[in-house]
Amino acid sequence: MPPSSFQKRAVFFVAFSGIVTLILIAFPLVEGWLQDFVLPQFALQILDGKLLNTDRSEPSMMSSTTVSLVVNIFHIIKIFLWMALIIAVVRFITFLIFQTVLRSSSQSEISSLLKTVLSIIIYIVSFFIIFQSQYPGVQLGALFSGSAILGIVVGLALQDTLGNLFAGIALQADKPFQVGDVVTISNRGSGVIETVSWRGVKIRTFQNKLLVMSNAVMGKETIEVAPRDNLNARIVFFNTVYSSSPSRTIQLVREAVRQTENVSQKLRPIVRILNFGDSGIEWEVKYWADDYTRYNDTDALVRQRIWYVFQRENIHFAYPTRTIHIEPKRAEASLDEYLNTTAELLHAVPIFAPLSDEELDKLAQGSTNRVFAPGEAIVRKGQEGKSMFVIVRGAVDVQIPENGLPKTINRLRDNDFFGEMSLLTGQPRSATVVASEETEVLQIKKTSLKPIFEANPELVESIGQIVEQRRALLTPVLGLETAAVEDMDQGVFSSIRKFFGLK
Ligand code: CMP
Repeated sequence: MPPSSFQKRAVFFVAFSGIVTLILIAFPLVEGWLQDFVLPQFALQILDGKLLNTDRSEPSMMSSTTVSLVVNIFHIIKIFLWMALIIAVVRFITFLIFQTVLRSSSQSEISSLLKTVLSIIIYIVSFFIIFQSQYPGVQLGALFSGSAILGIVVGLALQDTLGNLFAGIALQADKPFQVGDVVTISNRGSGVIETVSWRGVKIRTFQNKLLVMSNAVMGKETIEVAPRDNLNARIVFFNTVYSSSPSRTIQLVREAVRQTENVSQKLRPIVRILNFGDSGIEWEVKYWADDYTRYNDTDALVRQRIWYVFQRENIHFAYPTRTIHIEPKRAEASLDEYLNTTAELLHAVPIFAPLSDEELDKLAQGSTNRVFAPGEAIVRKGQEGKSMFVIVRGAVDVQIPENGLPKTINRLRDNDFFGEMSLLTGQPRSATVVASEETEVLQIKKTSLKPIFEANPELVESIGQIVEQRRALLTPVLGLETAAVEDMDQGVFSSIRKFFGLK
């Protein structure tokens, strides 16, 4: 089994620090030998760190400068060795703490910044102590604090570094982003945070380039952060022609996007109309990405899915077009077509089944086709009503207020009709009728119904029966409040006849 990085480091650390320690232990021996054997031969001696000539009568054979040079070299080597030992120990300990202990804890995100700052502090303090031990006579503190020029030089040299360091400390304390977050920096693009250090931040852009920014610059930028452990949303835009049904589009796109890879199942995608544009309806779909770093691919996949679902369901994308309408001929053709289909639709409604083709055509002429969105009220309780409605496609809820909230008492579907009560009796609308899905209705006016009723008294009868049944359902809920009830005593049929002026 190859040695792990921990083992390698441990072996290196032990070997290195062992050698340095041995040299440091051997140093006093060398110094002692120098002092006891070499210097006396030159009539020299070191006392309290100073070089003295022991025999004043004879000049020393070795110049004192050479000796002090040797002594200083010894001091400097010792300082280097001690610093090397301290750096090795600090690096090994920080490696142990940050890599081994903290990796398993929740603070695994502690960046190299803290490590570096702590290490630098330890190095500076150690250097002071070691230097003082080697040169007790030199006042290092006074040297640093007293030297204005040195201060300026160091200050200028470290200006950027210190700026970055403090900006880095501020960023670290604030923690606006972490490794793995997706960030967008104004005018510089987006990418994934790769490292955060005391100097700056490395961002891997979506073109796989490395954007390196110093902390000082980073601190001044406006940064949009999409945290890694957050459900981040994306918005994709598309458009459709005006003839495509909005509620169908919403349903289809929502489903298609939901099934796209990397779209979160935790939140349902939102599809909504943004604007009525020049070329068509402008839409947006908002979804939440499981892995936000892959949003470019997911956006593309979402667009692809929308294209396929539109292709299958015959919904058309909008693009700038110019449509030339040749009015007269098309109008005639479409009116005939419209009347034929409308008459067919009316024929399918049970109450109109007994009517002749001619009567159905007349009724079709007096009716208008209307489409309502889900949730839209087609008639409202209490309003005056001069028309009734036949459901061509969709469904509606009949609602009456109960304790201030709408209560659904019935649901009507294809070929059902509503709005007949006030049309036939002249009473205000007895309930609110709301489209529960996209619903297409035929609106028939009172004026178109009158001649049909005159010719078909049995129609008054069959509609009257339905009105009575529906009223029976309404009365217990609404109570005996309305004038309609007074009329009911006279019978629905007579009130219909009276209202329409029939015999
Ligand atoms: P109108 O009173 O004109 O307007 C509200 C319509 O709701 C009413 O006509 C009926 O067509 C319909 N309506 C009222 N009560 C019921 C019911 N119990 N079942 C089905 N439809 C109803």
